[in-house]
Amino acid sequence: MTERLEAREKVTGTARYAFEYPVENVAYAAAVQASVGRGEIVAVDTEAAMALPGVLAVLSHENAPELNDHADGELALFQSPKVSYRGQFVAAVVGETLETAREAARRVRVEYAAEPPDVRLRTDHPGLYKPDVVNPVYPSDTEQGEPEEGFDGSAVRVDVTYRTPAEHNNAMEPHTTLAQWNDDGGLTLYDSTQGASGVRRIVAELFGLDGAQVRVVAPHVGGGFGSKGTARPSVVLAAMAARVVGRPVKFAVPRQQMFATTGYRTPTIQRMRLGADDDGHLTAILHDVFEQTSTVKEFAEQTATPTRVMYRAPNRRTSHRLVRLDVPTPSWMRAPGETPGMYALESVMDEVAVASGIDPVELRIRNDTDREPESGLPFSSRNLVACLQEGAARFGWADRDPAPGARREGRKLIGMGVAASTYPAYMQPNRASARAEPDGTFTVRIAAADIGTGARTALALIAAETLKADLHAVTVELGDSSLPRASTAGGSSGTASWGTAVVRACEALRAKLNSGSGGRGGSSPHMEDGGSGGRGGSSPHMEDGGSPGHGGSSAHTENGAVPPEGIEASADTTEEVKGRDKYARHAFGAQFAEVEVDVDTGEVRVRRLLGVFAAGRIINPRTARSQFIGGMTMGLGMALMEESVMDEEFGDFLNRDLAQYHVPACADVRDIDAIWVEESDPHLNPMGSKGIGEIGIVGTAAAIGNAVHHATGVRVRTLPITPGRLL
Ligand code: MOS
Repeated sequence: MTERLEAREKVTGTARYAFEYPVENVAYAAAVQASVGRGEIVAVDTEAAMALPGVLAVLSHENAPELNDHADGELALFQSPKVSYRGQFVAAVVGETLETAREAARRVRVEYAAEPPDVRLRTDHPGLYKPDVVNPVYPSDTEQGEPEEGFDGSAVRVDVTYRTPAEHNNAMEPHTTLAQWNDDGGLTLYDSTQGASGVRRIVAELFGLDGAQVRVVAPHVGGGFGSKGTARPSVVLAAMAARVVGRPVKFAVPRQQMFATTGYRTPTIQRMRLGADDDGHLTAILHDVFEQTSTVKEFAEQTATPTRVMYRAPNRRTSHRLVRLDVPTPSWMRAPGETPGMYALESVMDEVAVASGIDPVELRIRNDTDREPESGLPFSSRNLVACLQEGAARFGWADRDPAPGARREGRKLIGMGVAASTYPAYMQPNRASARAEPDGTFTVRIAAADIGTGARTALALIAAETLKADLHAVTVELGDSSLPRASTAGGSSGTASWGTAVVRACEALRAKLNSGSGGRGGSSPHMEDGGSGGRGGSSPHMEDGGSPGHGGSSAHTENGAVPPEGIEASADTTEEVKGRDKYARHAFGAQFAEVEVDVDTGEVRVRRLLGVFAAGRIINPRTARSQFIGGMTMGLGMALMEESVMDEEFGDFLNRDLAQYHVPACADVRDIDAIWVEESDPHLNPMGSKGIGEIGIVGTAAAIGNAVHHATGVRVRTLPITPGRLL
């Protein structure tokens, strides 16, 4: 139960975020957004803006530096007069102060030749097409057996369509960049990002620089949820502005501008057909998804992929159809794919349970499988049934009267619902280094990102365990692209991926310390095979309550003196990641919700929410629990509140702030808890861990929707479940 190592810095305000870096002679940027949904810029009148004292430059496609690479239509900022969606950045002002820049941005007059935008996702859109792959590289469609015939011949059939709206990540820290060009032509970016190494690579390509000329610094990040997992137009804007004015420039995307420019979850329309026999064994699963992308870039969310993982059935199909609309490009939002896809699958499972008269927990247990249904691969571990059973016991599921509307307390109808969760256990190649100093301390270096998850602390625990050192003897340096290259904090892959590199680097360091190779201090052998560490690839065991460093003597006392210049070792896990055995690796979980519905107002309140997860070894219970309940809270928002509304006439999201985009407040989250079952899985990584950042949101909305149905008998198939949809 380890507190975040940077907890004190964060609560005292000394942890430094991108906008807060002090630099001399800094200027500020403000962006101008397109006010039409589709068309071309005819003229940019900058006169009134330039007339304002303190304005340094106005940038648009008329005068912006040419970028080296236009392949990413979102990042090809100010490279053409074309407007692809309303709210797109079309100009920027740089001023001496933030206030000056903002006022001048208001004075920039852009004239357009506009056409009506096409922004409505619909299943009969003539532009629908089948993408080659869905995010990141899954096939768009899969089919086994005779899906249509299998469904038609099933004893129990449910054929329904679920809809989810566009949703926006609303991180506390805005998307922020401080860009500074150096005298030698290099570029330093203090950037709010989930991946310093990735931003470095992309920005270097765009500006025609060598990777080594760009440094991205991001030791603290105030949330991202996927929206900072890819480089955004804002980072390009800041870098461009700094180059043009020859001064450091700060740019923070105001929340009002965020809805068009920092990504969002695609809306989905999902036709679900589930067939079952009289015993509740599924005979057919058909999951056909419709979703959108933009005209400048393809993002195809993998909404139906969890359906390939979850339940046994001989006849099955999944498909994704996409349409290019005049909208911003959708992107990652916490568990992209799994979140909307499992909402539909776990809701329709509840409908099958009702239709067949089988308890929803029992129905899921009956359709459990030890092989991944579509790939046929064995699961490295799958403890869905244990999660369902543990959760049912703790939640008091046995007391539930299955009849909808059976429980009433005054004006409130009370209901209980369940849903399953799943998320893949990804692993990315990484590099890390580990260093021993003569004073008994260690430093681990990796360009990983801690976006508020506790990654720094988890990596320190992993390093301390591997080094048999006290936690407080270990310093983790992360969030800087000048450190050994790391994968992005995305896909819940961080701890597994970075942690493996940290283990291998620490094992290599121990091997050096044990062999008394002090004299060679400073050399950095490149460890490719990952297996030759001092402890021969054994797993550091993260006991729930046990602090690392308990009892065990430090490496120094075992290994003698470290020379004044220190000893360093490094690792690269590329080969190790490539060489993994063929298993289906996923975390699973079960979520239980109890809701009360006001019969007069239709207001839904979530009384209790319990998540039970099976996610391998939990490295740090304290921050893991926060991750789980954070995801579940976001799932509660998805179920009842979150909705980005597209205005079809103007072609823009109407939401501009947290008054118009509702997320749960503390008062909305009453009794919430997350626990986990013991899970030992030797096929994952040296820690035995699965990702935990995203699975918490997967299934929550279905559990709440199913509870609402149980309370009222009303099945709302369009999120969010607002009073208007329920009454
Ligand atoms: Mo997460 S949406 O993979 O950052």
